[in-house]
Amino acid sequence: MTAVGIDAIEIWTGKLKLDLPNTFAEKKGEDPDKYRKGLGLENSSFPDVYEDIVTMGANAAKRLMDRKGLSPQDIGRIDVATESSFDNSKPVSTYIAGCLEQVFEDNFHHANKGERKFACVAGTQSIDDAYNWIKAGRHRGRSALVIATDTALYERGDPGEATQGAGAVAMLISEDPSVVELSTEQGYGSADETDFLKPNQQFPSVDGKRSMQVYLARMREALEDFESVAGKTHPDDFAYIPFHTPFPGMVRKAGLLGYRHMIRDTEVEDELAEEIGRQPREAEFESWEDYEEAVRAYMDELKGTEKYRDWYGRTIDPTLSLSRQVGNWYTGSVHIARTAALKNALESDRDLAGDRLLVGSYGSGAQAEIHAETVVEGWEEELEQLNIDEQLAARYDLGFDEYELVHDVHDHEKETDVEEFTAPENEFVFSGWGRMGERNYEYIE
Ligand code: CAA
Repeated sequence: MTAVGIDAIEIWTGKLKLDLPNTFAEKKGEDPDKYRKGLGLENSSFPDVYEDIVTMGANAAKRLMDRKGLSPQDIGRIDVATESSFDNSKPVSTYIAGCLEQVFEDNFHHANKGERKFACVAGTQSIDDAYNWIKAGRHRGRSALVIATDTALYERGDPGEATQGAGAVAMLISEDPSVVELSTEQGYGSADETDFLKPNQQFPSVDGKRSMQVYLARMREALEDFESVAGKTHPDDFAYIPFHTPFPGMVRKAGLLGYRHMIRDTEVEDELAEEIGRQPREAEFESWEDYEEAVRAYMDELKGTEKYRDWYGRTIDPTLSLSRQVGNWYTGSVHIARTAALKNALESDRDLAGDRLLVGSYGSGAQAEIHAETVVEGWEEELEQLNIDEQLAARYDLGFDEYELVHDVHDHEKETDVEEFTAPENEFVFSGWGRMGERNYEYIE
């Protein structure tokens, strides 16, 4: 059977950063530890005045195509996943293709282009579309370019303001991939929910606390659905488990829930029983409330055990290193979590080929998707090409007043004229508006 999966990954971060524990917390009169320890965030990335979802996506895609030696003829589809689109008809992928055609000799006239929307899960859905297209044999030997790009901005003063971010992840989906092969098996947890939405508005309406409950409920459904086709999961089956990461504190909760589920009726539960007892079973309780209280007490004990902490430290924590520095990238978040995991393996000289990842994606509204990935030979060479550390280090550190100006510049309702904070070089930039309200871009040497 043909192996299909991720052949290359590139990341492009917004070129500005906001220091959350220091600059942001200080101004808001909050304890820096709410960010460092509670939410688990150090910095958010923001787009400079000449950056947006198109420039970040096109810049990531160009870098990927350059280093893989690809021409537009090698690409059979371009799918952009975003929840920050500025047009209800013309897809962002056409803008990105237009940018790339400014610098490549060939064009993308025979590539299928689209835009995928289901909140943050749309990037994973685009990979899914590419996988199916290749498996169906409709790709004519070509690859798909999947680009997850977002400016995740909240209304100022909204609790979500602490979890903002901006950046793009470009991924090449191909036959015989060089990074990971995707499993055929996948699980879904999907329901009509009103937790986070943007009814024709730029900034989201969010029920923050509820959104966290919905995330966990749908993720759990997706895991059960995955197990119904792939068989029961065990915590030791996977080298890393990258989750959608709106902020690392959310993944701390998901990791604990996942672990409790995976160890049930296994030798791990038996071993832990001596220390913290066995997991409560619903049938043992007279009311749902009593059962829930017992589960909460068990989870509190579980997260303090050495066994759990060791597993979390190996399997989950390494997936959060990039997210901590960039905040929420919506559609790109789970893909930077996967990248952070692979980067961790590279930096610790771990031989990962043949090992598996369990990937948990999530989009508000709401849907979770879980599938497995097998790391393939050649992954190190791919990961070595990333320059994300250099990009992160080069970001301009915003003062609070500057942050507010940048927020205003990217607010569609406001007209704010601000000088750029960084100088663009060898990249696409937003260059102004066209006669039909379209956005224009140019490549700056
Ligand atoms: N020291 C240590 N920890 C501290 C602390 C301190 N001084 N102060 C607070 N904390 C902890 C809190 O205890 C809390 O942790 P627990 O949940 O484990 O108890 C954490 O820091 C956050 O503190 P609050 O709950 O007080 O934070 P908040 O109410 O201001 O906002 C939020 C949190 C509701 C998630 C808000 O950031 C928000 O609305 N975010 C946007 C929505 C979101 O990201 N939801 C996630 C699921 S939906 C999704 O995943 C899709 C998506 O991308 C948007």
